[in-house]
Amino acid sequence: MKGIVLAGGTGSRLFPLTKITNKHLLPIYDKPMIYYPIQTLVEAGIQDIMVVTGGKNSGDFLRLLANGKQFGLKHIAYTYQEGEGGIAEALQLCEHFADGDRICVVLGDNIIEKSIAKAVQEFEQQPSGARILVKEVHDAGRFGVAEFDGDRIIGIEEKPQKPKSNFAVTGIYMYDESVFEKISTCQPSSRGELEITDVNNAYIREGNMTWSALDGWWTDAGTFESLLRAANLVAKTSQGVAA
Ligand code: DAU
Repeated sequence: MKGIVLAGGTGSRLFPLTKITNKHLLPIYDKPMIYYPIQTLVEAGIQDIMVVTGGKNSGDFLRLLANGKQFGLKHIAYTYQEGEGGIAEALQLCEHFADGDRICVVLGDNIIEKSIAKAVQEFEQQPSGARILVKEVHDAGRFGVAEFDGDRIIGIEEKPQKPKSNFAVTGIYMYDESVFEKISTCQPSSRGELEITDVNNAYIREGNMTWSALDGWWTDAGTFESLLRAANLVAKTSQGVAA
């Protein structure tokens, strides 16, 4: 399986922190944000990784990460997203990299406490389709939200005003090779983006979506509040204090 970290977009919700640098290069406690999603993939045994960057500071990713020696990698592949046409648009740029293999995608601002190795192994056993990781939260309306029928996900709504569950869809997605065909049928949403939620709903309609509950804490880091929370969670965890 190949790994993809999506670190495009302009990070407008973090302005002026993102006026002169890319959101994913900002610090989360003692490391730049982009280190965490790469580490998530490496700890799950994924070595073949592409990073999607964007904006004016994309060269800084190469200076920071180089070939990924600090993660035990031999090489990192990079590509560039012009503008911010959405998560699914950023993913579409990785079709040639995936080259028919399965992929595990991690959003560049998603930071987690524990390993996803078990979910990755479960996806590898799955004959086809997709697997998402969900997490129970108190503010589900900020995220993609899963609707369940028993233990089956029957739909995902993007940032709903009235969430149908407390289960947020985290920014960790596993897909088979049909993902790129599905993205190509998506239309831009009202916010002008190709939405990853539309891609996930295409798998759900096919009856080919499974899920795992994410172990440990999870946070995004795309707002001032969540950026601070992420730093505090990482600090507490690395100091051995229960978060
Ligand atoms: O964090 C999980 C949530 O991420 C999911 O629950 C939502 O379903 C999903 O849509 C997404 O929501 P956000 O609105 O928080 O996504 P955001 O626009 O902040 O983008 C998250 C990351 O995706 C960002 O750090 C980099 C990458 N991205 C985003 C856009 C819009 C790109 O690479 N290119 C893009 O054009």
